Amino acid sequence: MLKRSLSLLMISAVALMAMDGKQLLQKKCASCHMLESPNFFQLQKLKAPAMDAVVFHVKLAKEKPEAQKAFIVDYVLDPDVSKSVCESNKVAKFGVMPSQKGNVTKAELEAIAAYLIATYPHKDFVAMIKEVQANDKIRALTDSPFLINSENVPHLTKLLIKHWDKGALGLTAEQKKKLLVIRKETLSAVKQIKAKLKPLEDEVAEAMIDREDPKRVTPLLEKIAKLKIEATKVHLKCIADTTSVLTEEQVAYLLPFWE
Ligand code: HEC
Repeated sequence: MLKRSLSLLMISAVALMAMDGKQLLQKKCASCHMLESPNFFQLQKLKAPAMDAVVFHVKLAKEKPEAQKAFIVDYVLDPDVSKSVCESNKVAKFGVMPSQKGNVTKAELEAIAAYLIATYPHKDFVAMIKEVQANDKIRALTDSPFLINSENVPHLTKLLIKHWDKGALGLTAEQKKKLLVIRKETLSAVKQIKAKLKPLEDEVAEAMIDREDPKRVTPLLEKIAKLKIEATKVHLKCIADTTSVLTEEQVAYLLPFWE
């Protein structure tokens, strides 16, 4: 009798250990997902997104912990590009995750998901992402030929590419075709304008280094201003063309990401 209850005890102890989310995570997921916070350079050479990045995106997409947990459990067993909450370009880069059916049970996944939600993303990772995003913003601004760079005039094409395959956005094949044409036209028009702007701006800088009278560069400034007006028109046309292809629901889905 004592022997039996002892062995029962041992079995439940083993079962408990098996449900340790941290250990399970290391055993079942770490072969692909980096579990420590990656530094900027490690980020460039991963074979799957780091767990910090995965949970960062899951939490962005799903507000409630139960929904976050349900998403992780479902995605790991039944991954699909349309369900993905990670950026579409990242999924394209890594390929869709292979289903872990057979490698991990639903009960184990629930323990893993609970641990993930309680532990990730680490604070230093979030700080790094915020910094990268801020730097990207500054780079985009210093490199921008547009007259209006406020947040309410977004780079809609860039935003769309990030959400391209997301089921929640639900772009149809026909919409994608039209949007790609708009993107291509916009990018090539802006590129041409930028190529013309650069030498004019260099000329102004040189004139000032040579201590020329600022009045002499006024015609150059006027040319620069005209080109920037052209670029801004292209930008606004891109927004108008893009939103005309999208439904109201799709625009509403994108709205929180405009920044
Ligand atoms: C064979 C490699 C591999 C293993 C093992 C693996 N994953 Fe992944 N996982 C990936 C790749 C690649 C991606 C990025 C592509 C994608 O999102 O589908 C990914 C993405 C994810 C995502 C984000 C889904 C999205 O796009 O929104 C979650 C959540 C996830 N993995 C959880 C897990 C968990 C939990 C485990 C362990 C049970 C695990 N993965 C094991 C390769 C793997």
